[in-house]
Amino acid sequence: WFLGSEVFQNYGCRMAGGLWITTELVVISVVIGFMLAVGLAIARLYGPRWAQMAINGYTTFFRGTPLLCQLFLIYYGLGQFRPFWQDVGLWWFFREPFYCALFTFTINTAAYQAEILRGAIQSIPRGQFEGALSLGLHRWATLRHVIMPQAMILGLRPLGNELIVMIKSSAVASLVTLYDLMGATKLAFSRSFDLTIYLYAALIYLVLVEVIRRIWDRVELRLTRHMAL
Ligand code: ARG
Repeated sequence: WFLGSEVFQNYGCRMAGGLWITTELVVISVVIGFMLAVGLAIARLYGPRWAQMAINGYTTFFRGTPLLCQLFLIYYGLGQFRPFWQDVGLWWFFREPFYCALFTFTINTAAYQAEILRGAIQSIPRGQFEGALSLGLHRWATLRHVIMPQAMILGLRPLGNELIVMIKSSAVASLVTLYDLMGATKLAFSRSFDLTIYLYAALIYLVLVEVIRRIWDRVELRLTRHMAL
């Protein structure tokens, strides 16, 4: 009934292509977002006062406004500065809806992940820091080898949730002309008026999320076995 259905026969290929675009958008933005977030979280906690305030403003904005609004601001807004982007050699970037979506998702998820990591780092007892320092470790070495490994385990679950939220939120990419999974589904519906196509899309998102959730559960179990959490 699923793979054999007529809409799926006709649009299955496009949906698969859409699934691939969705995967690219989410994986790249979450990975780069994570790398940014590590720096942001550390600077937010230990950096100079101006950096703390700047990062606070950044996370407040990106967590406090709709992702769709941010995407439109970047897609329709940044494109207006064409001469400027040409001068700095980035005109190809903000011309492409794919890159606009990728950029928006990356800075959005970086804000969320930075707050997750900040919370995780703050949950590590002060004694861990003081203990490592008293053993002669440098501040950076303490952070790198004592605090971060523990914080990462605490942050694992919320980071997994963030990945799942990003998979579902990435559907807004379909509103800037992208044929991600949701975009391909919209196209199929507008041509066939067969509502079941949305049901299939929902099912595909659901399977994707569920697979990731299960993998994540396993990884977490592995990493926390020694802690009997
Ligand atoms: N759908 C929500 C929005 O439009 C969430 C967006 C991103 N959330 C996240 N955890 N990265 O604002």
